[in-house]
Amino acid sequence: MVKASASQTKGKILVTAALPYANGPIHLGHLVEYIQADIFVRFLKLLGRDVVFACADDTHGTPIELAAAKEKIKPEELIQKYYDEHTADFASFFIDFDVYHSTNSPENKFYSDLFFNRLNEKGFIQQRLVELTYCENDKRYLPDRYVKGKCPKCGAEDQYGDQCEKCNATYQPIDLIEPHCSLCGTAPVRKQSLHYFFKLSAFSQHLQQWLEGNRNIQGDVRHFVESWIKSGLQDWDISRDGPYFGFKIPGESNKYYYVWLDAPIGYIAATEKYCRENVNKTALEAYWQNKDATIIHFIGKDIIYFHFLFWPAMLTAAGFNLPSDFAVHGHLTINGEKMSKSRGNFLTAKDYLAVPGHEPEFLRFYYASHLTKSVSDINLDFDDFKGKTNNDLVSNIANFVHRTLVFLNNNFDSRLEPLGNDEKFFLQQLQPKYDSIVKNYSEYNFRDAVRELLELSSIGNRYFQENQPWQLVKADKKKCHRVVSVAAQMVRDLMLLSFPILPKYSEKILRLFGYENFGTLGLADLGKFPSAKKLYPARIVFAPIEETIALAPVFPAVLKVGKIEEITEHPDADKLYVLTVDLGSRGGGRIEDGEIGSDNAAEEKAEKPEKSEKERKHRIIQLVAGLRAYYRKDELLGKKIVVVSNLKHAKLRGYESHGMLLAADDGSRVVVVSPQDSDPGDLVFPEGSDAEKILANRKQLAIDEFYRLNLRVKDEKVVYGAKPLKTRKEIISVDAADDAVVR
Ligand code: 2FM
Ligand code: ZN
Repeated sequence: MVKASASQTKGKILVTAALPYANGPIHLGHLVEYIQADIFVRFLKLLGRDVVFACADDTHGTPIELAAAKEKIKPEELIQKYYDEHTADFASFFIDFDVYHSTNSPENKFYSDLFFNRLNEKGFIQQRLVELTYCENDKRYLPDRYVKGKCPKCGAEDQYGDQCEKCNATYQPIDLIEPHCSLCGTAPVRKQSLHYFFKLSAFSQHLQQWLEGNRNIQGDVRHFVESWIKSGLQDWDISRDGPYFGFKIPGESNKYYYVWLDAPIGYIAATEKYCRENVNKTALEAYWQNKDATIIHFIGKDIIYFHFLFWPAMLTAAGFNLPSDFAVHGHLTINGEKMSKSRGNFLTAKDYLAVPGHEPEFLRFYYASHLTKSVSDINLDFDDFKGKTNNDLVSNIANFVHRTLVFLNNNFDSRLEPLGNDEKFFLQQLQPKYDSIVKNYSEYNFRDAVRELLELSSIGNRYFQENQPWQLVKADKKKCHRVVSVAAQMVRDLMLLSFPILPKYSEKILRLFGYENFGTLGLADLGKFPSAKKLYPARIVFAPIEETIALAPVFPAVLKVGKIEEITEHPDADKLYVLTVDLGSRGGGRIEDGEIGSDNAAEEKAEKPEKSEKERKHRIIQLVAGLRAYYRKDELLGKKIVVVSNLKHAKLRGYESHGMLLAADDGSRVVVVSPQDSDPGDLVFPEGSDAEKILANRKQLAIDEFYRLNLRVKDEKVVYGAKPLKTRKEIISVDAADDAVVR
């Protein structure tokens, strides 16, 4: 059964956007989807459709539990903090959810149990013994991202427990060679556990039929999903052992639903909250069980599997409606590159708004001008962004609006003049464009809607220009008044049609025409002469942007405190020592985007091949240093130093050097930089820079690149430009003259 599209249905519509994890900020990648969904919902509301826009924070799982532990707060506090941040960020981009809930809510607990019990009663849940990696030190099972080791297929070092980044092989965490816990570095053991599985395989045929019957689904996505079904669906492990932040499985004392079980149920929980809180108290069934309802999910292409296989299978088994449509979008790239902390191009919603002149609506407009119902990636190119904002939005649309309203105000006291037949005829010709814009919105083709909005404002600007009202006002004031009134009607129509993309700007302009209720704005006035006899005078402008977003380069050297553990003379070079240096304990469990950020790759490779227990827990590296002319062995042994730990390895007279220690050289003296109050493993970074971003760096540095950083001494501090180097515990000082080179 093919459903009418959302723009045509008279029934209830539920639109959702994917639930962001409650352990990180909203970033520009997230905003593609929320802006896309918000534009669509605003458009449906303009059409007068009965639509609810629902979302929530996704609050469960290991990364959130560990992030809270790291901050020494309860997970409940952490997720509250992110709830507040996320809702503020959405509001600042005018993303207007009708309900924004949390998966850690009583409604979600209720529906998660309801799903689990129904699935269980129908025989779709099975218990199976699984073998897992377990850390005896941390007393926890280690999921994929929390165990690392050598790839069982190609032997590549430092791979996660699910997939090798080098050869792409997929495997189980227990298959890793020489595994170690990402949190504490010790070798995990294998341990059995009884887990709950959802029999996804039982739904293959049903899912295949659903895909075939649902013509709304994007072709690319359909093909992906069909190929997964063809290659055979695996049953799905829906339980996790404690410690875990989530909902306990009924009847269990230490087993929880896997976060991806209760996350999509969060869509239902949010709907329930909406129904409860809104005056009409529409029952949940109207959205999730009534066959006339339309459910539309906006998601990114990375979570297709969950939404096209697990989720519809669960909904079917539990007796709920299946989604009618999906808008699956691609990823955001920034200046052509994937966004990541280590590239220094990770931009949050707040980062964007901190750039002077960067209105939230500029980003909405830019994204809209690239969005279609396609899974292709979207590129935010800063020059293109500046161009589109300044040339299209400011110089075309906002200019037409501004010049018209200002002229009307200056010459006609903001009054409108009834039109003659010529003017009416001119305006009638715009109707096909209006229809086409509406059609494009309804097909998620915002790119073409924007193109046509720009065509409309170009027509308006040309009309204004060709009629030369500044001359006409002297020659034929009546005619001039009609001309400007035509332009004013075009402005009003343009603003009605731009409203989904530019809600605040359009609202301000439309208020001048006397519109008040923006919850039920509607398109009924489109193409009709404005009913207001006199507009409110006001000057509303968009200023062009001058600055482009500058990506702060991330300090490229990973400097760490080390301790000299052993020291010998190089047998073949009388200037060199060979040092064994302890770089502190592994891991530390930094959490980014729901993953453990691994420590530097170059560093990992610098380890000696054979490992003692201490070496397994600590990073021990070898350095070759030209210090024999300046220090005796006993002066160096046990000394704390600063090591450039991501330097490309070098061989000095036959001895591998896995980095370099920092010393100040003023031409006569060489003084080793030695932090006093810090510990091996502590990061040394320029004051004011983001330590997390530096740590996320996986690039090896060539020695020349390091020299170019030009570290110097100033007031007995080591400085990078004007910034002193520091650890979290101290400013790094060194007893050397100003301007001494540090390398
Ligand atoms: O991938 C993610 O960011 C998930 N938090 C999305 C969840 S969407 C839904 F299924 F809950
Ligand atoms: Zn551990």
